[in-house]
This record gives sequence, C-alpha cells and structure tokens, in this order.
Amino acid sequence: MAAALRILLLTHSFNGLAQRLFAELGADGHAVSVEFDIADSVTEEAVALFAPDVIVAPFLKRAVPETIWRRHLTLIVHPGIVGDRGPSALDWAIQEGEAAWGVTVLQAEAEMDAGPVWASRAFPLRAASKADVYRNETTAGALAAVREALARVPEWRAGRWQPRPLVQTPDVRGRLRPLMRQADRALDWARMDSAAILARIRAADGFPGVADALFEQPCQLFDAHPGRRPAGFEHAAPGAVLARRDGALLRATVDGAVWIGHVRRADSPHPFKLPATLVFAAEAATLPELPATLMAPAGADRAELGYRELAYRETDNGALGVLSFDFYNGAMSTAQCRRLLAAIGFARSRPTRVLVLDGGAGFWSNGIHLNTIEAAASPADESSANIEAIDDVCLALIGLTDRLTIAALRGNAGAGGCFLALACDRVWAREGVVMNPHYKNMGNLFGSEYWTYLLPRRVGEEAARAIMHNRLPLLARQAAAQGLIDDCFGADRAHFAAEVRARAHALAGDPGLAALIADKARRRAADEAERPLAAYRAAELAMMRRNFYGFDPSYHVARYHFVLKSPQSWTPRHLARHRELGWRAPAASAPVA
Ligand code: COA
Repeated sequence: MAAALRILLLTHSFNGLAQRLFAELGADGHAVSVEFDIADSVTEEAVALFAPDVIVAPFLKRAVPETIWRRHLTLIVHPGIVGDRGPSALDWAIQEGEAAWGVTVLQAEAEMDAGPVWASRAFPLRAASKADVYRNETTAGALAAVREALARVPEWRAGRWQPRPLVQTPDVRGRLRPLMRQADRALDWARMDSAAILARIRAADGFPGVADALFEQPCQLFDAHPGRRPAGFEHAAPGAVLARRDGALLRATVDGAVWIGHVRRADSPHPFKLPATLVFAAEAATLPELPATLMAPAGADRAELGYRELAYRETDNGALGVLSFDFYNGAMSTAQCRRLLAAIGFARSRPTRVLVLDGGAGFWSNGIHLNTIEAAASPADESSANIEAIDDVCLALIGLTDRLTIAALRGNAGAGGCFLALACDRVWAREGVVMNPHYKNMGNLFGSEYWTYLLPRRVGEEAARAIMHNRLPLLARQAAAQGLIDDCFGADRAHFAAEVRARAHALAGDPGLAALIADKARRRAADEAERPLAAYRAAELAMMRRNFYGFDPSYHVARYHFVLKSPQSWTPRHLARHRELGWRAPAASAPVA
C-alpha cells in the first residue's frame, strides 16, 4: 500500500460514493475524517483541526474556497471524462447517448473542474439511470482513480511527479458543458420515440427528474422503463396514459409505450418522489390494471420481461428458484412488502430446495419506505403498518425451513434492508457493496426486522452492539470478515450474478443438502423453544412504538429531513473524527504552492 495519509473527505453529503471512499480508504490504512461542505468557515475550521495531507472532495455542489485549495492539496472527483467540466456531466452523457464515459480526479484550482488531472478511469456507458451509473461504474472508477492519485501524493510532494495540466487538445473529448436545464430535458411525446424519452428521463434520475405533466398536472417524471402497448390501445395518442401496474403508469409513445414508476409534484403538500399511482390515485383508479406474471421464463433477462418489480425464475431442472425484487431506491412500502410476501408464498409452493433472493440491481433493500410514510395521513400509523409488513416478510423468510435460502446482494443494503438479508441462511454480497446495518441515523430509530434475533446469532452480542452503535458503512468484505455475511465475491454485477448462479446450483445439487435443511429446521425449532420469534418481534415493536408515538419526535424529524433532502447543518460526530473531544491536530502540512 502507498504511504498512509491523513485524508479529509469534504463532501456535500455522505452519499454512496463518499461512504465507499470512507470505508475503503480507511481499510487501506489511511486516517480518514469527514466534513460536510456547509460554509467556508466550517471547512477552514475542519482543515485547521485535522491538518490533512490531502482533501478529497467526492461530491460537491459548489467550488472549494480559495483559502483551502491554495494552502492544501485538494483533489476533486468529477463524474466525467478528462476535459469535461460543468455540473451536469452524467446528465449530458446519458441524454446524448455517449457510448463510453468516465470519472476524473483533478486538483482544485480557480476554475471549477479545470485543474490538472491526477488520474481518470473510463467505462462503457450502459442504458441506465444516472443514479444507477453513478452508484456503480462511477463509484468503482472513482475509487480506483482516487487510490492512484493518493499513491502519487508523496512523489508530488517531493517534486518528482506533476499532474497533467488540462489542455483542450483534439484528443481530449471532454469539454465545458452548462448546467442542464429543464428546457434541455423537455419531452416531445408527439415526436420522440421511446428510446429518446427513456434516455431523457434516465439522464435526470434520481435528480431532478424531467418536468412534464400527467393528467394535465405539472410534475417531474422518474423511474422510466420500456413498455409495450397492450391490445386495444394501438391507436392511442402519444403521451396518453393507458394502464397501471403496481405503482407505475403506462404511457403511449410514438413507437410503443413507457412505464413511469415515480413522480414528484412540486405543488403538492408532499413535494418529493412517490409512486405514480399514489400521486394520481383517483386518475389511476380509472385505468385498467396490467398485472405482471410473477413467474418468468428461465433465462429471461429484464429487458425481455418488461417492467416489473417482482420476478421469479426457476432453473430447467426445477431445483433452484430465484426471486428478484427491484424496488425503486430499495425502499419497500407496505404495499410492496405485501406483494413480496405473496411472491415468497408462491416461491414456497414450488418444489425447489434452494431459493435465491437477489433483491434489485441497484439496491438489495433499504428497509421501510420513508417517502410513502411521510406522505401518509398519519406517518406514525403508516410507519407502524410498514414495519409490520416488512416484519411479515422477514418472518416468512425465516420460516422457510423446508429449503435453503440465499440473499444475494447485487447492490447496497441499508437499515432494515440489511436485516432482511440476514433472515436468509446464506448472505452473499458483490465486492464493492456497502452495507449500513444500523438504524440510529434515522432519528435514533430502534429498528425491527427481527434484528435482535438475527444479528447476535451471526456476530455475537458484543459485536452486534458495536455495529449498531458505530452507525458506520461497512464494506461487504468487512462484513464477511466479521461474520455478518457469509461471503463476498465478484468484481462487477455480471461476475457476481454468474458466481451466484454457479454456487447456488452447486448447493442445489449437493448430496448433503437434505442434511443441511434438516439441520436448519432443527436449529430453528430449538431457537423457537428458547425464545419465540413472536417475543423478539413484540419487544422490538414496543420500542418502535416509542419512536412512532412517543414524546421524542426525533424519528419524525429525521425522516422529514431525509425525504425533503434538507441541507446539512453540521457533520455528525461519528464521521467528523477531527471534532472528537481530545483530538490533537498534528503539525500543519506544507502549503500547496
Ligand atoms: N425510503 C425511501 N427512500 C429511500 C430509502 C428509504 N428507506 N432509502 C434510500 N432512499 C432513497 C434516497 O432518498 C435517495 O433518493 P433520491 O433518488 O431522491 O436520491 C435514494 O434512495 C438513494 O439513497 P441515498 O441516501 O442517496 O443512498 P446512499 O447510498 O447515499 O445511502 C443509505 C444509503 C441506506 C445509508 C441511506 O439511503 C439511508 O439512510 N436510507 C434510509 C434507511 C432507513 O433508515 N430506512 C428506514 C428504517 S428500516
């Protein structure tokens, strides 16, 4: 490993990339602390306290103050190729159908994103949402490029290496692009084909969405998927809303149709993303429902299946079942939990002996749906209903004692979503997956999902307490080392999926499988005799009732700020380690130039 450095992560928020860098660079042996970009004076104070060797800025919404970059080496992660500048890097790349994109680490200077280049990575650009590309390829590329840049710091300090100045030569494809405005994103339903509409909505997803209208009401569109016009709608006008499925609306295009899963109405009392059929409940109720069949043909991929949150597949020999639940942002509302419960019931009726639960591609699960809770007439009652519904899902998984269950984490998991995974017998995660197996960040939420049963039995009481208390992101390989999960493998999604298939097949064909299942059933019965699951649930829910209905409103306040994305006003102490009492600043580092 390169020399250990003191690294200050200066970031607008502790987003997925910041979490990954925090965990990975810490595991690399660096001393890492975090400060949110709140005000110049706060950043200056943090830098004075921590005296970092280098400031790394994974996610900023404004320029680094000159008082900082002139005196301290500051490296910016820009989600664009070398030469690209501006605040809408990925938006332009996705909307304009770039075949390849990248991420660049550059040194902060007066002109934003125009400093000398320390490192960069390129990748093929998939047809996916901006948020999905950012969480996947951009994050992996940024980590590799930041590691390369950090390895160069000692050489640079010694004057033996210089970053490459950004000069706009013909071989530099990137260029300065303006902020993408809603006018640039506008949809012309009468002229644009499905591919163009999908590209525009994906380029704006998760933020800011594409300003459009549904049922003549202005709203922002998110979560778009290819669709087909159902029989009887061959002549529907482009833009017309044709049908509904779960939370989504099907809208006609000139060459077919697209599904719109989520919308945001700025003029509503709930100005945040919600399932489209919830926002337009009265209008949606008049539309025909086009239910998706749960059982998908073996080997069918998502594109062939069309839009669906839940899909169940079986291998040809019927030994292995795979249940996917691709909920937008990994958030699981009461209704989604109930649908998932029904799908688990279906999987249970099948004669398979191994069941893989592979969640969604972007997230495995992030627990109860904080947006639908916030929008409910009584958020406390809806929190209660949602936690009961997700607990029912956990209970169903724990109760699958006639087969082996595997949670395959293709994407990150947070809060209740982590413990839902622990309800399975085996938990495997893709390398690079970040888990947040704790609840306290959401206003000191106690949490349920049978975590008081599932967590200590995997890691022991003491480690369980530490995991819950530390409230830190955990890399999948760290989770595996601690015994929280069973294994971590597969450098990317394709390798992980192939390896999960191979391992699950091997288990399904293992002559020792019957004994494994019998042993599992025996263990479950013994655990139940010692303390019934109902007792764990009742005790957890008693604590949750205090969160929902008690005199301390912290959970409701935290959820409100999370859903409304309120700007941060301070950095939590467990991240801003330089602000811990007793922290002593080492001797200040040398100015940059
Ligand atoms: N309910 C609703 N939306 C959720 C959600 C949840 N439980 N968890 C995440 N999201 C949304 C975020 O609001 C964000 O929305 P966006 O598309 O508008 O940007 C998106 O999912 C991605 O989440 P983000 O927080 O940006 O991802 P991250 O990788 O930075 O952080 C977590 C991941 C899990 C740490 C963070 O999302 C989180 O704390 N989620 C809440 C978990 C929770 O407390 N659940 C309830 C208790 S079970």
